Amino acid sequence: MIKLSLLLCSCLMLATPAFAGDAAAGKSKAEPCADCHGDDGKGDKDTPCIAGMSEADFTKAMKEYQAETRTKSKKMIKSAKKVNDDDIADLAAYFVTLPKK
Ligand code: HEC
Repeated sequence: MIKLSLLLCSCLMLATPAFAGDAAAGKSKAEPCADCHGDDGKGDKDTPCIAGMSEADFTKAMKEYQAETRTKSKKMIKSAKKVNDDDIADLAAYFVTLPKK
């Protein structure tokens, strides 16, 4: 029994990085987003500021675009569909570190 819980424990530790976002990786994945949201994520007259968004809000928004339950921007739906769950976690971890407008 002790062995089993040790095993479970180490599996969980190994699995963690796949769920927690990596801000450095997110930065390199954010290049296509900069076209519309700007290098600093602050957006312009046509795009909202995504810098400093909480990871929860960011993730929720991306999921809504992917599911097409948030349909205000076709372009944003297209962008969201190009990224997977890992990418979203990394991007969320990156954008939350940027200063808000
Ligand atoms: C072609 C332009 C374009 C590109 C590229 C783009 N976006 Fe967007 N994005 C938009 C527009 C326009 C909106 C506003 C739509 C709306 O109100 O739902 C938006 C909204 C968002 C929102 C919701 C903001 C809020 O306040 O709720 C997030 C999060 C977001 N984008 C993240 C990203 C990420 C991450 C990428 C790169 C993978 C990206 N966007 C690429 C145009 C773009």
